[in-house]
Amino acid sequence: MSATEILRNDHKQMRRFEKIVVQCYTKLNSGQDISFSDLEKMILIMSEFLDAIHYSREEDAYFACVGSYGFLKEEIRAFMIEHEFSRRIANNISKHLQKWKEGIDEREPVARFLKAYAVYLNDHMTKEDRFFEIAEKQVLSAEEEKMMYEEFRAVNAVVTKLDEMIRIIDYLEQTDWMKI
Ligand SMILES: [Fe+2]
Ligand SMILES: [Fe+2]
Repeated sequence: MSATEILRNDHKQMRRFEKIVVQCYTKLNSGQDISFSDLEKMILIMSEFLDAIHYSREEDAYFACVGSYGFLKEEIRAFMIEHEFSRRIANNISKHLQKWKEGIDEREPVARFLKAYAVYLNDHMTKEDRFFEIAEKQVLSAEEEKMMYEEFRAVNAVVTKLDEMIRIIDYLEQTDWMKI
């Protein structure tokens, strides 16, 4: 396995999550209730998987390595800005969910920011998948791919956390509101 493949595998899990987000805002918009606990699990995936694990793999290792050759600098800059944008959307979902839990009807903004998050996910991952292809074929050496791969797998806490996050995605896929 290579570093690029690890990131692609992350994206596969994120695509599963994207479907959950789409179903969630669609159901909220049609008036169906979704438990606060399930919504909180989704916010957890955004912060603990996407942000803390995946963005960190990209920003601290992969983009840093590709960028060190002076290649694809504009693309990398745009991806970092988009990561920041997604953190802001996630914060907004969290903030409105908090108010909703306190008794104010925040269904509309929660659904709206979830939709923004799904749009971001699709757009961002589509562009990054193309970027991975170029980086893999034209920029990174086999040695670098291997070194980063080992770096990604070296921290046990991260590997354990990722397994836990995938179990939450499994759980969310099985909820009643995910069934059409
Ligand atoms: Fe990214
Ligand atoms: Fe990514």
